[in-house]
Amino acid sequence: MAYDTIIFEVEHGIAIIRFNRPKALNAINTGVITEVNDALDNIKVDTSIKVLILTGEGDKAFVAGADIATMRDYTPLEGKYFSARGHEILFRLESLPIPVIACVNGFALGGGCELAMACDFIYAADSAKFGQPEINLGIIPGFGGTQRLARLVGKSRAKELCMTGVMMSAQEAKDMGLVNKLFPKEELWEETIKVAKLLAAKGKVSIRAVKETIDRGYDQDLRTGCHMESEAFGICMASPDAREGMGAFLDKRIPEFKGELL
Ligand code: CAA
Repeated sequence: MAYDTIIFEVEHGIAIIRFNRPKALNAINTGVITEVNDALDNIKVDTSIKVLILTGEGDKAFVAGADIATMRDYTPLEGKYFSARGHEILFRLESLPIPVIACVNGFALGGGCELAMACDFIYAADSAKFGQPEINLGIIPGFGGTQRLARLVGKSRAKELCMTGVMMSAQEAKDMGLVNKLFPKEELWEETIKVAKLLAAKGKVSIRAVKETIDRGYDQDLRTGCHMESEAFGICMASPDAREGMGAFLDKRIPEFKGELL
């Protein structure tokens, strides 16, 4: 599909959104938001897609944040609207029923770090850099950085990163639990695809159940979260995938999951 600011591809059930403004280190402007929104519309209705990977074009950046050149002249209302549109995109990623992997090939700063945090997990090149440098621009994170970062790494670390604006290495980001795995840059894509294929072979119903139960249960008390888990467990039992998965185990064969989402 032809877009100006992203490259959108689907191959063997794996969709890829590649941020494609390498000259501006893939900075996010309203064009990017509109095109990602459109790509997500396509992903939502394409039942062949089982995994989504987000990555950056070029060898320097995943996404170096929101586009400072366009933000500079925003009125307060335009700023609020831009932030709200960013939030909507990130919530859409979180509400997709499929796994979304951030494949962080370089700078993930500001809106880029926020985008990665809205993915289900983050794989990064060992040379990547993370951070919320908005404070250096006289603003604050606008795509959920104050909220998701605090939930992922704790309040005090989130405050330190957002207040100092200091960039951290991929290793530091991994040590604080932001990044799942690091790979040498030249191996990152291949390793990410390996995991995407592994995920694509699972059942759609149980993948969605895991994602929804963890995401929605996270901010609940334990009893409410466990209640949500029991409900989702029951829904999985209603899917043919449960019979197939358990039957395949007992028959000592590899399961073939074909259950569709309702
Ligand atoms: N917006 C617009 N353009 C950007 C950009 C951004 N966020 N980040 C980089 N660029 C542009 C640069 O202006 C430069 O353009 P020119 O070649 O036309 O001069 C080009 O990309 C290459 O960048 P540098 O020359 O700066 O590359 P570098 O290797 O020296 O530095 C960097 C790399 C450290 C990432 C540096 O570019 C940088 O600090 N970028 C800004 C990062 C930032 O502050 N991000 C937060 C943005 S605000 C935000 O994201 C708000 C929010 O939460 C929604």
